[in-house]
Amino acid sequence: MSGRILIVGSAGQVGVELQRSFADYGEITARDRDTFDLADPDQVRALVREVEPSIILNAAAYTAVDRAEADPQVAMAVNAQASRILAEEALRADALLVHYSTDYVFDGSKPGAWVETDTPHPLNVYGASKLAGEEAIQQVGGKYLIFRTSWVYGPHGRNFLLTMLRLASERDQLSIVDDQYGAPTTSIELADATRAIVGGVLAGRFGSTASWAGLYHMTCSGSVSWCGFAREIFSQAGNRLEGKVPVVTAISTADYPTPAKRPRNSVLSNEKLNARFGERLSSWEDALSATLARLPGQ
Ligand SMILES: NC(=O)c1ccc[n+]([C@@H]2O[C@H](COP(=O)([O-])OP(=O)(O)OC[C@H]3O[C@@H](n4cnc5c(N)ncnc54)[C@H](OP(=O)(O)O)[C@@H]3O)[C@@H](O)[C@H]2O)c1
Repeated sequence: MSGRILIVGSAGQVGVELQRSFADYGEITARDRDTFDLADPDQVRALVREVEPSIILNAAAYTAVDRAEADPQVAMAVNAQASRILAEEALRADALLVHYSTDYVFDGSKPGAWVETDTPHPLNVYGASKLAGEEAIQQVGGKYLIFRTSWVYGPHGRNFLLTMLRLASERDQLSIVDDQYGAPTTSIELADATRAIVGGVLAGRFGSTASWAGLYHMTCSGSVSWCGFAREIFSQAGNRLEGKVPVVTAISTADYPTPAKRPRNSVLSNEKLNARFGERLSSWEDALSATLARLPGQ
C-alpha cells in the first residue's frame, strides 16, 4: 500500500486501466469530467488539495486531434496549463506525478525511431499543446515521470480497434491510410508498465529522484501503418466477425484529408525506458491479441 492515489481522467482509455492496475496499491480517488473541469485552474488545485495524494496519475487530456485545430485555447488549457498546475501541486505536496504525452510532438520526418533527445516539432495543435504540457512539468520539476506513447487503444473508449470492429459489421470495404507509421499501444500495457515502474520508484529500486525523474518513450514494440493495423485486427478478430471481414484498401494520407496534419513516422524508441527501468511492453501484435481476448463475447 502506498497512500492515496489520485487518478485524473479516470473514465478515459488509460484511466480505466490505471484503476485496475493500481487497485491493490493504495486508496484510489478517481476523477473525470463529470466531477471537475481540468480547464479551470482553481478546480485542479482544489482537487489535489482535497485528496492530498502521494501519487497523481494524470490520464486526462484533450485528445480530439482534429477538433483541437478549431479549439486551441481549450486544448492548451487542458493539455498544458492543467499539467503545469498538477506539477506545481505535486511539488508542493511532495507527490509523484505520472503524466502521458504523445508521439505527435514529432513531425514524422525521421526515417528511424524517435529518441527522447530528438527535437520535437509538432504538426498540429494537439501535439503543440501536449508538448507545452511536457515542458511545463519539466520546468516545475520534482518527482515526475512523463511517458510519451502512441496510437492508444484498448477494450474501452473511443479508439481505432473498436471503430474497426464496428465498421466490419456495417461495411464490405474500407479505405485506410497506409503511409503513416507508428506503434499501436494498448491502455492495458501502459497501465501495467506504469504500475511496475511506480512500484519500483517508490520502493527505492531506481535510486534518488534525480536518477529516475524525466521523460521516457513507452510504446508497444514494432511498428505498422494504420492500414496494416486494420488488416491485423481483421485477421486476429476473424472468428468474432463471423466471416464478415471487410476488404481493406490501402490509401495515402493525401487521399484522406483531415483538419490536423499527422506525422508520417511517429515510431518511438523505447530503449531509454528499458535501460532505466528494465521495462519492455509487448509487441503490438501480442498486445492486440490480449486486448481482443478482453472484449465481451470471447
Ligand atoms: N489516444 C491516443 O491515441 C493517444 C496517443 C498518444 C498519447 N496519448 C495520451 O495518453 C493519455 C491518455 O489518453 P487516452 O487515450 O486514455 O484519452 P481519452 O480516452 O480521451 O481520455 C481522456 C480523459 O480526459 C477527460 N478530459 C478531457 N478534458 C477534460 C476536462 N476539461 N476536464 C476533465 N476531464 C477531461 C476526458 O473526458 P471526455 O471523454 O468527457 O472528454 C477523458 O475521460 C493522454 O495524455 C493522451 O494525450 C493518447
